[in-house]
Amino acid sequence: MQFRTTSGKLQEISADCIVLPVTSFSSVKSGALKQLDSASKGAVSSLASFGEFSGKTGEISSIYSPQGFKSKRVLLVGLGEESTLTADSFRAALGNVSRAKALTGSRKAVVYFDGFSDDEFFQAAIEGYMLGSFKMNEFRSGEARKDSSKLTDLLFAVSDKRELGPLQAAIKRGQIIAEGQNLARRLAFTPSNYLTPRIYARKMQELARKHRIHCRVLDEKAIERENMGCLLGVSRGSEEPPRFVILRYNGRRDGQKPVVLVGKGVTFDSGGISIKPAENMHEMKGDMHGSATMLATIITAARLKLPLNLVTITPLTENMPSGTATKPGDVLVSRKGITVEIINTDAEGRLILADALDYANTFEPQAVIDIATLTGAALFVLGYAGAPVLGNNDDLMAQLASASDATAERTWRMPIWDEFRDAMKGSISDLINSGGRPAGTMTATAFLENFIGNWPWAHIDIAYVDHEPKGRPYQPKGATGFGVRLLTHVLTNWHRPKK
Ligand code: BES
Ligand code: MN
Ligand code: ZN
Repeated sequence: MQFRTTSGKLQEISADCIVLPVTSFSSVKSGALKQLDSASKGAVSSLASFGEFSGKTGEISSIYSPQGFKSKRVLLVGLGEESTLTADSFRAALGNVSRAKALTGSRKAVVYFDGFSDDEFFQAAIEGYMLGSFKMNEFRSGEARKDSSKLTDLLFAVSDKRELGPLQAAIKRGQIIAEGQNLARRLAFTPSNYLTPRIYARKMQELARKHRIHCRVLDEKAIERENMGCLLGVSRGSEEPPRFVILRYNGRRDGQKPVVLVGKGVTFDSGGISIKPAENMHEMKGDMHGSATMLATIITAARLKLPLNLVTITPLTENMPSGTATKPGDVLVSRKGITVEIINTDAEGRLILADALDYANTFEPQAVIDIATLTGAALFVLGYAGAPVLGNNDDLMAQLASASDATAERTWRMPIWDEFRDAMKGSISDLINSGGRPAGTMTATAFLENFIGNWPWAHIDIAYVDHEPKGRPYQPKGATGFGVRLLTHVLTNWHRPKK
């Protein structure tokens, strides 16, 4: 697919289909919509008066062969009320359009911005298109493997030539970010027999080489030398050895300390000896979504040439039951030396993150953000609508909150209280790995807190937002790639968090 930009009058645009996003209207008043109405003998007014199209969210309608137009078809797309217009209105509108026959049946289409000059809107439009048209065909056979869309050229147009510069920059940025998010989705969708820790680590090496990011892979021997007893305790039950991957992108040369991104990479979570019920267990191939998000984020940051130093740390393992598996009641010794009694082998994510967060200290980070499909209890915090975020620094939390508003990848802060810390204290060991059902998302975070250093830290639990159950305008059913837009926004607008 080719994405390009252009400028000119609506009538002069030549394409198989022009996509025209418009806000809600009660009568056709001005601008491109007025021209289109006149050129189509009042067809736009008729759509509105018959209640078929008036610019509401989710509405789509075609106008054919407007007189004096170079294009035979204009596809109107509703943005909703002007008073509530945000970047996400464009994401949603273009997401809806991305799967419409009018577009997939065209070879060349042009998205026309009439009266909009905000580059966040431009960026959101291409994001919406690319995220909405995402397909996962590689595990199908024959014809179904192929993309059925005819579209080869999608252009973004403004009327005023002077806006072409900002438009081009925004389209490029949106394309890179959406490609990042789609990469994370693809990885999260990939079955565990195609993405073992070893295969995944190799894939990361390939991607790192392609994007000129430094990559170091620790194998099981190196992981042993690092004394990562918690990660090893989780991987013990599997025939597949663990990996521990460190990616580095240096966007500046002044030796500034890096921001460290940590992602949970459990390529399959059966629960281990505390085995999960069979229903929905297949979804646990996506328990590496955090690592996919962080991999995609560092690649995206590198492609955007962000001026900061970044490290991504991803512990990769399966969680399986077997004769060699860690058993409930066993005690593991973490890299940090803190001992942990395993109450439930299904609480494995916090174990591998414990060693990864401790390892982050070797980089003297200016801040650490981790992201993980950590607790089923996240469903009872914010459901599918947003991700709970917890941490120790108000400034870092504020940076996440404003990124959450800007990208519509929603996070909301939850507390880390002493009650939650108490729930993780051991009787024969320093800590236990499960605090039971109450406040499960918060007690898991209180566990992680024991392994962080003296740096600003944020933990994002994506256990449910990693997966869309039904399908929304720019989010097809399945893996979401949650966090790539959010974290790219945080890193683009980064400042070292104040104490
Ligand atoms: N990967 C799961 C969390 C999860 C559950 C993500 C459902 C998405 C959907 C995690 O490893 C886990 O099993 N957590 C346990 C912890 C409990 C045993 C303390 C959980 O949430 O049930
Ligand atoms: Mn688990
Ligand atoms: Zn898990």
